[in-house]
Amino acid sequence: MKRLQTTLLAAALLGTSAASMAEDAALKVGLMLPATGTYAQLGTAIENGFKLYVDQAGGKLGGRGVEYVKLDDESDPAKATDNINKLIKSDKVDVVVGTVHSGVAAAMAKVAKQTGTLLVVPNAGSAMITGPMCAPNIFRSSFSNRQPGFAMGKVAAEKGYKKVATITWKYGAGEESVGGFKEAFEADGGEVVKELYVPFPNVEFQALLTEIAALKPDAVYSFFAGAGAVKFVKDYKAAGLMDSIPLLGAGFLTDGTLKAQGGDGEGLLTTLHYADELDNETDKAFRKAYSEAFDTVPDVYAVQGFDAAQILDIGLQAAGGDVSKTADIAAAVEATEIDSPRGKFTLSRAHNPIQDIYLREAKGEENVVIGVAVEKLDDPAKGCRL
Ligand code: PHB
Repeated sequence: MKRLQTTLLAAALLGTSAASMAEDAALKVGLMLPATGTYAQLGTAIENGFKLYVDQAGGKLGGRGVEYVKLDDESDPAKATDNINKLIKSDKVDVVVGTVHSGVAAAMAKVAKQTGTLLVVPNAGSAMITGPMCAPNIFRSSFSNRQPGFAMGKVAAEKGYKKVATITWKYGAGEESVGGFKEAFEADGGEVVKELYVPFPNVEFQALLTEIAALKPDAVYSFFAGAGAVKFVKDYKAAGLMDSIPLLGAGFLTDGTLKAQGGDGEGLLTTLHYADELDNETDKAFRKAYSEAFDTVPDVYAVQGFDAAQILDIGLQAAGGDVSKTADIAAAVEATEIDSPRGKFTLSRAHNPIQDIYLREAKGEENVVIGVAVEKLDDPAKGCRL
């Protein structure tokens, strides 16, 4: 009898420790981001922001220590499914954070939805992620591609532009950004007279700039980011268009790129959910800590990385560190006003930020706030069934 009791006691103890061990073990975070190519710098800023939050939280998320597994996704959609499956199946990560490119992230969301893996998207604005692929275990700390575009459509109409040409890369992000611009601009009486595209990640803009010069629209709306945005702004200026045809953009055109543009971006108006010189304490503390830690100023990508970690922390704290408690994680995140350097925001039911979109002007190396283009902008989350 005594022996049986001892055995039962041992089993009970063992059972308890086995259950709690999973939550005591380090949280394995798969960082699937671009480390090479036109978006490489964006990936670095996201990783820096994420790690800054974790460091400030004492090296923990949801009470668990954190371990990183890094994977360079090369912004290549063709490799995306294999890459995320490797993280989940071989590396056995608890959560995936990624990525920048919409095509890669849409494939990641599909796998996350099928497998129930916790996924936080720290940039890619693909409508798929918070549309048809929306799920309780998928969150986005950034924006939908439509949001900055839509806000600039309103601004362009208010400025009295009537005929605008658009130029971007031919893939989801560019198309959806232009779609958002067109939706708002045409609703307010403007007309998109020409949509110009270059294949991603090409930066041969000359032929299209010649076309723009011949078209003479009132303004040009553009979506480019990273190294491609640096080259585009420099080429637009070199083509002599900067003074004759105002260049507008989603804020990625000038975020984290002004220094490399060497003054060619001066005066550009863009719309985005972040800006330099925001008047809030969270941002001031964030910028100070980020600059000290990484010896460079933060940009929108750094903010999105920071908030990706913040969202995970909020969710996992409510779930006692257990990544499988999806409903608890989602309920906590949905109920929280997130205290971001961009300003406070909430997540929609589809888990996309509902946020202010700022109008900014490039001055020196900063995107200075001029005002709020659209307050608390939501995304329609078309195709999301929850
Ligand atoms: C995207 O592919 O969704 C994307 C990439 C870079 C950005 C913004 C959006 O800066």
